[in-house]
Amino acid sequence: ISLRDRNSFGVEQQAARLAEFETADDLRAIFAGGAPAEWCVLSGGNNILFTRDYDGLLLTPAARGIAVTKDEGDRVYVRAEAGVEWDDLVEWAVGRGLWGIENLSLIPGKAGAAPVQNIGAYGCEAKDVIERVEMFCVETGTMLTLDAAHCGFGYRESVFKHTLRGRVVITAVELRLSRTPQPRLDYGDVAREVEARGGVSLRNIREAISAIRRAKLPDPKVAGNAGSFFKNPVVGASEAARLLAAWPDMPHYPAPDGGVKLAAGWLIDRAGWKGRSEGRVGVHERQALVLVNRGGATGAEVIAFARRIQRSVVERFGVEISTEVNIL
Ligand code: EPU
Repeated sequence: ISLRDRNSFGVEQQAARLAEFETADDLRAIFAGGAPAEWCVLSGGNNILFTRDYDGLLLTPAARGIAVTKDEGDRVYVRAEAGVEWDDLVEWAVGRGLWGIENLSLIPGKAGAAPVQNIGAYGCEAKDVIERVEMFCVETGTMLTLDAAHCGFGYRESVFKHTLRGRVVITAVELRLSRTPQPRLDYGDVAREVEARGGVSLRNIREAISAIRRAKLPDPKVAGNAGSFFKNPVVGASEAARLLAAWPDMPHYPAPDGGVKLAAGWLIDRAGWKGRSEGRVGVHERQALVLVNRGGATGAEVIAFARRIQRSVVERFGVEISTEVNIL
């Protein structure tokens, strides 16, 4: 099976088997004879880089239901099945006057993938609204529900990338949204773009964020990419002080546990990579965190290019940047 149209990088690799699932029964049937030696979930394929053909089984969620599970007047709980396009869910919520995920407008991918890397943008993360996550446990063949407190959420992190990796298949997420306006406008140009659209409303925030993203991030249909290829690194306070002494204009933000988060895009940009290409892979012209497939690149070419960028950032700044994208 060709994976070319199933990964936003557009790399040409093959998978031995691919199965779509909707229900727990579908998953029970798929795993009835025991788990295959190699399997993983391929959701929207927006955060994955295939560097070789995949010998195992890929599972893709297909269920697309969205439903209110509990309406408490102000708080409204919404359950989305794993195959719902994330941005369709944002539109659904905005259209019903429900606050909480408007800042996550236009993030590519499906709802079931949102908790895995705790998607985030413009001052908001999925963990701020996730109430619980429903999943199929491969070992026991039963359904489990994990409350958000047990999901180990952090910056682009969760238990699904670690202890539960390869052990569960996420089937649905439940979100806690609000009818009371909760605008978060303090990131970058968001407040200005919202004002330019006539002031604070769910619709204006959604449109402002969408416009900011469209201006900075490449459309995968035009140039294959997986959004931010790297995570923003978190360094200790003394390391941050050393860097700021040398580069006073370096963006930096407080992180949990006294750490300081740096902007990998800025580091890559200042190391001279922005807009640069080598062969069929390049760094996006308007956002240095994003690597783009200039046409026909293989996963191996992308990863080799990424490693060169990582080495260059270490040489220049002494800072390690790790990949955000899953490398398979
Ligand atoms: N910057 C540069 N040059 C660049 C890119 C960024 O100097 O080429 C500077 C910016 O000027 C700014 C700072 O770095 O001062 C941060 O840039 P930006 O606001 O664009 O955000 P980011 O940290 O580069 C993160 C997320 C994005 C998300 C934006 C907005 C990660 C890995 N990336 O990028 O998420 O959309 O914030 O919240 O945390 C994704 O994960 O795929 C993604 C696109």
